[in-house]
Formats: sequence, C-alpha cells, structure tokens
Amino acid sequence: MKPIIEIKSLNKTYKDGFSALSNISLDIFPSEVLALLGPNGAGKTTLISMICSLTTISAGSIIVGGFDITKNPLEARRLIGLVPQELTINMFELVWDSLNFSRGIFGLPSNDKYLNHLLDTLSLADKKTQPLMNLSGGMKRRVMIAKALAHEPKILFLDEPTAGVDVELRRDMWQQIKTLKESGVTIILTTHYIEEAEEMASRIGVINKGKIVVVEDKNTLIKKLGKKQMIFDLTQDLKKLPDSLGNFNLKIEGSKLIYNYNSKSEDTAISTLIDGLKKEKIEYKDIQSKKSSLEEIFVELVHQS
Ligand SMILES: Nc1ncnc2c1ncn2[C@@H]1O[C@H](COP(=O)(O)OP(=O)(O)OP(=O)(O)O)[C@@H](O)[C@H]1O
Ligand SMILES: [Mg+2]
Repeated sequence: MKPIIEIKSLNKTYKDGFSALSNISLDIFPSEVLALLGPNGAGKTTLISMICSLTTISAGSIIVGGFDITKNPLEARRLIGLVPQELTINMFELVWDSLNFSRGIFGLPSNDKYLNHLLDTLSLADKKTQPLMNLSGGMKRRVMIAKALAHEPKILFLDEPTAGVDVELRRDMWQQIKTLKESGVTIILTTHYIEEAEEMASRIGVINKGKIVVVEDKNTLIKKLGKKQMIFDLTQDLKKLPDSLGNFNLKIEGSKLIYNYNSKSEDTAISTLIDGLKKEKIEYKDIQSKKSSLEEIFVELVHQS
C-alpha cells in the first residue's frame, strides 16, 4: 500500500540552535491509527507542526498525499485536519459558525448536511447554536475535532485529544475516533495515556529526545518486547533474598516475590526457581502470572534510549 504521508530524513533545529528532531523517517498508511508516544519535550508536537506546515523543515522532506509540503503546501494542508495541543478558539463564536468558518478557509462551499452529520457524530448537535464559552472543557475539545474535520480532510492529527477529559467522556471520544477511522480517515494521535494508544492505535511510534525509538504494529510490539512476571504471594514477608536465589531476576515487594522472565527463552527456569524456594523453605499461598503492559514496555523503551 502506498503511504499517505512519507517522511524522509527529517531534521528540526529551532532558531536558538536547539535540535528538536533528528533523522526522522516514517511512512504513514491510509486508514491507520498511529499513536505517537514519548515523554514531555520528545518532539511529537514539533513533528506534527512540520507535517502541517506550521513549522519550517530544517532538512529532509515530507510528502502528503503525493504533494511535497515545501513545494505544494496548500494542496498538502487541504488533506489535513489538525486538533492542536493548545485550545485555540474564539469563545464568543457560535459552534455552528466556528465550523462553517473552518470549512470556508479551505475554500469549500458550505455543506450543512455534512456539518450536521459531524456534530451528530461528535454528540454536539444540541450545542450548535451556543457560543463556545458556554461549553464544558470536554465539549470544547470535541468542537476542536469537528473544526478540524470541517473541510473533509483525509488525515486527522490529534495532539493529545483527551487531555483533561473525564474517563467516561474519554471512552466516548475513543468511540467517535474509531467511527472516524472506519469512515476511512487516517489518524495520527499523541497521548500520555498509554491505555488510549492501546485501545485505539493499530501502530505505535515511540519518540524520545527527537529520535524515533521504535515504530511497530501494536500487537507485534507487545509480543516482541513484552516480558512475563510470576508473582509469588508469600505466607510471610521476606526481608532479604537468600544467596542461593541470587541468579534469578527476583524482586521483593513486602510479602510478594516477583520473578521477571522472558517467556520466549528456551529455559524459563521456573521449575528451578520453585525447587530453590522449597529448599530455602520460602512458602507461598498463591502464584499469579502477568504479561507486561504496553505502559511497562513504553517506560523501558524510553529508559533504554
Ligand atoms: N519555538 C521553539 N523554539 C525552541 N525550542 C522549541 C520550540 N518549540 C519547541 N521547542 C523545544 O523542542 C522540544 C520538543 O518540543 P515538543 O513540543 O515537540 O515536545 P512534545 O513531544 O510535543 O512534548 P509534550 O508531550 O510536552 O507535548 C522541547 O525541548 C521544546 O522546548
Ligand atoms: Mg506536544
């Protein structure tokens, strides 16, 4: 499949000499949901701003829907809807006018049917004639999404779409974003809620200190980098690990003894560990096993890079 966005050897050095992104190459494919994860200051918003022609490119190239963004910025930008990280709205404007305006700037004729459908999809139909200041924070975020979609873009960037949104509403928004994906829109989102990426993304990209650490299909990433844990629920607190168990990757947390192991290695050494516990007369009442979550994988990736 041909990518809808092609990023090659991209670099960004800000005017003050700070290098925010270095050597980023990434293809994004039609109708995928790509989640970009990374700590504060990693360069996620910088990357999005460059793709949307809001920040200049220092080196490298970006092609959107076949248009090189430095040669054909308007054609490329028309294909993109952006919900920026910071809310930028005119509080006195009515919801409906705000959407109409966003459509108008791209030179499209008005289309009430489409805009009404958009308001329905984002559960905002009853707020149509309200000024934005009358809306709650979560509703304002949804208006930002509607505005970004007003010109019927093929690609939607959501830079932390659910920051400050309550749990229930966040789930609603996930549903709405899934509906958009099903309608064929390519979605690139950034988030600090790993659960959000886990729920929505088909692919995960991790950025740290201006570099891409990994880009991988979500399930493959979890399978490849996931570790397993075996948790022994001890009958008594353990103060110190006996020397004979020193070779195992064990951690004591009060009355829990946690064994981290790689489930794909030939020998997980579980039976040797169980024998060892028996020899040391360490008794347990329960054993649980757990797979590492995307969150744990993410934290490890960022620490290693
Ligand atoms: N205009 C600018 N001039 C100089 N440095 C900048 C500018 N804009 C951003 N930076 C720096 O570039 C780095 C990346 O910032 P960016 O906003 O892309 O991070 P981010 O990954 O989006 O972080 P967050 O998760 O906090 O939103 C930061 O160190 C930031 O201070
Ligand atoms: Mg950001």
